[in-house]
Amino acid sequence: MSIAPVLKAPLSKSLRIALIQLKAGADKLANLAKVTKFIEDATSRTPKVDLVMLPECFNSPYAVDQFANYAESIPKGETTELLSSLAKKHGVFIIGGSIPELSPDRKIYNTSLTFNPEGKIIAKHRKAHLFDIDIPNGITFQESLTLTGGDKATVFKLGEYGNVGLGICYDIRFPELASIASRSPNNAFAMFYPGAFNTTTGPLHWHLLARARAVDNETFVVLCSPARDVEGGGYQAYGHSLVVDPLGNIIAEAGEGEEILYAELDESLLPKAREGIPVHYQRRFDIYGDFVGDGTAKVSDI
Ligand SMILES: *[C@@H]1O[C@H](CO)[C@@H](O)[C@H](O)[C@H]1NC(C)=O
Ligand SMILES: *[C@@H]1O[C@H](CO)[C@@H](O)[C@H](O)[C@H]1NC(C)=O
Ligand SMILES: *[C@@H]1O[C@H](CO)[C@@H](O)[C@H](O)[C@H]1NC(C)=O
Repeated sequence: MSIAPVLKAPLSKSLRIALIQLKAGADKLANLAKVTKFIEDATSRTPKVDLVMLPECFNSPYAVDQFANYAESIPKGETTELLSSLAKKHGVFIIGGSIPELSPDRKIYNTSLTFNPEGKIIAKHRKAHLFDIDIPNGITFQESLTLTGGDKATVFKLGEYGNVGLGICYDIRFPELASIASRSPNNAFAMFYPGAFNTTTGPLHWHLLARARAVDNETFVVLCSPARDVEGGGYQAYGHSLVVDPLGNIIAEAGEGEEILYAELDESLLPKAREGIPVHYQRRFDIYGDFVGDGTAKVSDI
């Protein structure tokens, strides 16, 4: 009989978040101007939000053949510099969706940066799972032709609130990243996923995957999508940016167009969920092994 360890609250105080569901066009500078305006709006509200999140691909169109044209280096790149200055100016954390990153070895990664309220980069996740499909007589989409996959799970300290994990889009289908983040010693209280599902995979799996990751790890799950581009005729993102609590309840959901979605991650919900349904402490690693606890998981430095 194992006894539940003393509960350590992984979220030390409630976190107010704003998800910016915007659509990006072909003009990079216009995209960045739009981001600036949306972040200004989101942070001018009272009570003030603590964190702003952007969607996947917010500075470029969502098209594999375009990534190279929009890619920039990090940290010296216009998007990175802009987000850093906005985080500082408004005194908020910014989870910077994702952008194509041009690394010094000339490879392109799908990368998400997080900034603290001083404007400093506190996390960098390179999308680990690239989306390659080739259905005979159906669609073909090969990210690996132009992108390189990252090689680590990303978990980081969100200031005084606690730790969070981050994945990009397709990463949500692999429960292992969320598991690494939520398990000791990382103890994340939430997973954040900038993502751009489409109008087929969205209705089919978007809510299901968010709620599944929330329930199997008893953490908050936050998804930020681009808005649907009805007139533009390009990639049709699903929209429906979403916030799910540790019991799997949807606590906020956007529509399809451009909007700012506000939510509060209530610190009291997480211990309640874990006391009520104690899967966190009752795993049987003697049956199925423990890749997190055995030291083989590759995690970013916290
Ligand atoms: C990141 O990966 C997704 C696929 O899941 C891709 O569709 C998207 O365009 C990529 N974004 C960037 C900025 O490279
Ligand atoms: C959305 O993506 C899925 C998986 O790649 C694909 O099978 C489907 O045809 C796409 N749907 C649309 C409307 O583009
Ligand atoms: C998170 O979910 C995964 C997949 O269901 C599971 O293997 C893992 O043990 C869970 N982590 C926690 C802390 O419950």
